[in-house]
Amino acid sequence: NEKPTALIMIFGATGDLAKRKLFPSLYRLFEKDRLGDFAVIGVARRSLTNDEFQTSVNQSVNPEGVENDKLKEFVSKFYYHSHDVTDSDSYASLNTVAHELDNQYNLSGNRIFYLAMAPEFFGTIAEHLKTDGLTDAHGFKRLVIEKPFGHDLESAKKLNNQIRTAFTEDEIYRIDHYLGKEMVQNIEVIRFANSIFEPLWNNRFISNIQVTSSETLGVEERGRYYEKSGALRDMVQNHMLQMVSLLAMEPPISLTTDEIRSEKVRVFRALRPIKGNEVNEYFVRGQYGKGLLEEKKVPAYNEEDMVDPESNTETFVAGKLMIDNFRWAGVPFYIRTGKRMEAKTTKIVVEFKDMPMDLYNRQEGSVRPNLLVIHIQPEEGITLYLNAKKAGQFMNSTPVKLSYANKGIDGLNTPEAYEKLLYDCLRGDATNFTHWDEVALSWSFVDNISAVWEKEKEQNFPNYEAGSMGPKAADALLDKDGHFWWPVTNLDVEKC
Ligand code: BG6
Repeated sequence: NEKPTALIMIFGATGDLAKRKLFPSLYRLFEKDRLGDFAVIGVARRSLTNDEFQTSVNQSVNPEGVENDKLKEFVSKFYYHSHDVTDSDSYASLNTVAHELDNQYNLSGNRIFYLAMAPEFFGTIAEHLKTDGLTDAHGFKRLVIEKPFGHDLESAKKLNNQIRTAFTEDEIYRIDHYLGKEMVQNIEVIRFANSIFEPLWNNRFISNIQVTSSETLGVEERGRYYEKSGALRDMVQNHMLQMVSLLAMEPPISLTTDEIRSEKVRVFRALRPIKGNEVNEYFVRGQYGKGLLEEKKVPAYNEEDMVDPESNTETFVAGKLMIDNFRWAGVPFYIRTGKRMEAKTTKIVVEFKDMPMDLYNRQEGSVRPNLLVIHIQPEEGITLYLNAKKAGQFMNSTPVKLSYANKGIDGLNTPEAYEKLLYDCLRGDATNFTHWDEVALSWSFVDNISAVWEKEKEQNFPNYEAGSMGPKAADALLDKDGHFWWPVTNLDVEKC
């Protein structure tokens, strides 16, 4: 049980992410005795006293207000600094507080700068951290940076150049919170710790792989951001492509950060770029109209707050990716993600090829392709769909399933993504963060698509009803190849 020591400065400490994810995750680490000496400086524009800040930390960790000595001790390590991100004097006084806390808590000059705020300031803050001396303490320094990492390749490069003036690549922890999810991390173990899968994990035995991440929520209060982003930049450039890279990568020679990253990067390099005239053949976009979700009426996207009524922004994307290497040539990876869909779920379905010949006279629902389903969320587990003899006199086959539920086994609560990622960062393990090469390659893949979509202004939006699984064209995308989306809501494959 490593117990790292550090001073953690959270920029954007009065924001939603800090309250919803960061404070509670730090507290869980503290409760589990995973933190060594530490202190936190909350940094934000608003003027607050340390007491007021501590009260807000307390509320976010313990909304019911239960008396708890451990929590009191935790909260007492939080300090607040009212800050102007463009003003050197602000950084100088932040540095003074940082030095004081470093001495008071014996933090060995270790500093983590967590940017949980609007991305337009990432570059400016990183530059100031260097020029105003905050990165000069004698311990380690790490920058944790939230998405979006740029808006396209060009802006991502610019941002990267700015932060690289103050931090080396090894000191930059770019968060993709999907990489902190238990079952996303499990992809690697399922693949590389089971001799029954790895030999089959290629184009000789796998017909196609489907990755779905659907949400029931709409854009909520994020209309302004989402109008410029859309589902392609919001979900595909990062989370979806990251999952694909983990599914497709070669076995690394060891589990070090560098080995895993370099295998993932090779997948991004093999990802077939989509040419301008192929975009609409390989990708489908959609925007939700009004509809019913959990029996409640919900508005269309173009009626949401801060959204242009004529908006051309996609809230749904489905795509077919091809990975041009020996292992995957010819195997489509289908991805699909959207807002206001039928269910909140993330699932991966690996469909194996049919047997060379059907001995059991395939009838409706008898022999089916084998499927390996990785349930990422909300339930966590794996289901393997096989065929077995139907009990009785005759040689008929019936689909059966073998399931493993991650939470069902010992009742363990798997740690939240942010808890794991924070602990990784404190320990200096960057494996589950995205390297610049991955970011750059995934932007250049996505840029080809958005360039075409941005030119084609005229869209027949909205084109799917809230509460559905997306536009019809997403089904047609697979139909052309003789495939279909395996159901992911109420995944009851017996009925397929
Ligand atoms: C974020 C996106 O990165 O991921 C959001 O910006 C999306 O739009 C969210 O809702 C989904 O994350 P999760 O963990 O709820 O699947």
